[in-house]
Amino acid sequence: MSFRIRRECCRDRATEVILGAKNMLSTVFLELTNHCNMNCEFCANHLMSRPRGYMPLDLAKSIIDQLRQMNFKGSLIKSLMGEPLLHPNFKEILKYSIDKGIKSNVITNFLAVPERVSIEKLLTSGIDTLCLSYQTPNQHTFQTRRTKLKFDEYFKKLKMIISYARDNNINTNRIEIHILHSLYNYLNVEVVNDDRLIESAILKLCDILYPDNSKFSKQKFDEKNIIKAVKKFRQGKQYLDTFEIKIGSRIYVVLKRANTWANRLIPEGCEVEPKNRGNCGFFHNSLGILWDGNCTVCCQDFNGSIYVGDAKTTSIADINTGKRLTGMRELEKKGQLESDYCHLCKGTIKRNGRKFSIIKNHGLINKGFKLANQIKVKLIQ
Ligand SMILES: C[S@@+](CC[C@H](N)C(=O)[O-])C[C@H]1O[C@@H](n2cnc3c(N)ncnc32)[C@H](O)[C@@H]1O
Ligand code: SF4
Ligand code: SF4
Repeated sequence: MSFRIRRECCRDRATEVILGAKNMLSTVFLELTNHCNMNCEFCANHLMSRPRGYMPLDLAKSIIDQLRQMNFKGSLIKSLMGEPLLHPNFKEILKYSIDKGIKSNVITNFLAVPERVSIEKLLTSGIDTLCLSYQTPNQHTFQTRRTKLKFDEYFKKLKMIISYARDNNINTNRIEIHILHSLYNYLNVEVVNDDRLIESAILKLCDILYPDNSKFSKQKFDEKNIIKAVKKFRQGKQYLDTFEIKIGSRIYVVLKRANTWANRLIPEGCEVEPKNRGNCGFFHNSLGILWDGNCTVCCQDFNGSIYVGDAKTTSIADINTGKRLTGMRELEKKGQLESDYCHLCKGTIKRNGRKFSIIKNHGLINKGFKLANQIKVKLIQ
């Protein structure tokens, strides 16, 4: 078992992205649909005001063809908003991108498994990284997903996927099981706020991977290691942003700090003082293509407010090197952010005119919090 802090492609980590060659896209988010079969309280799904729909098959294929022509070497992530498995042509689009040699990742709430997409298809079609957004690992936290399904039935689906991965030859490189923690963050919703729950959730997943009668059970899985790893994740009184624990061959638990969707989901009674200066790596290496072809730079931009072009009428290469995006990139390099959307994202959260400190709320000192986010954990085999 091993664990490490991960660099994440999210708001908090965006400024840390090391820029590759000029204007080289490293991540493209392809929103197959913004329809969803859940309505999670912690997600901006319920704030989306743009129309809902499904990306036309020919548009999806054309984007994939263009990425191949551009010799795109990054990851094509199937999802931005919405649930990708709901797209009527999900399997065809997935196969198309994999056949074209594009590294394809899927982020899914897996609610539609196995009814719409079989487990075999998910795990043997050549997805590079499959992110299973488990997020809420008990009955209580599962209520935030706002679905009719019972938690036990949801867990059964996850169990089936993990059991399949345990017992069969799969060709998915990584299966990530995500758990969302809202410890010391500014989100308006509480998700997982207890490391005991995290610990027991991981142990429950290990029980699936290493049932008592398994010959691997003793040598590969030691409860104490999990407890030790979760302790590492909680450094003193603090918790790390993103932390992953390898629990099996190709299987990782990723503990991820919930974000505020560019400060659109903040605690009641708070307001954001916008800031038009700051830096963000998203402008330089990522592109989000919404189901209707409209493009943004940012996976946090749930309404497509940072419009940079239309993939229906303009090639991806032209959008990537066009005036609009290059202008934004030049400004960003000078520390200026053009979009109002970014101004709130980079803004200061206030309550009653004063800077709102989550740390104060928890009776902790600011210095300690900053330090905790910088701690490096060595990879332990
Ligand atoms: C917007 S969803 C789209 C894909 C799919 N519907 C799903 O839930 O996996 C993409 C990812 O964002 C995560 N997410 C949603 N709200 C979040 C928040 N406030 N902080 C961090 N991640 C969040 C989801 O759990 C999921 O892993
Ligand atoms: S997190 Fe995913 S499953 Fe939940 S509402 Fe958002 S898009 Fe839907
Ligand atoms: S909203 Fe703007 S500043 Fe915030 S992560 Fe997205 S692109 Fe970067």
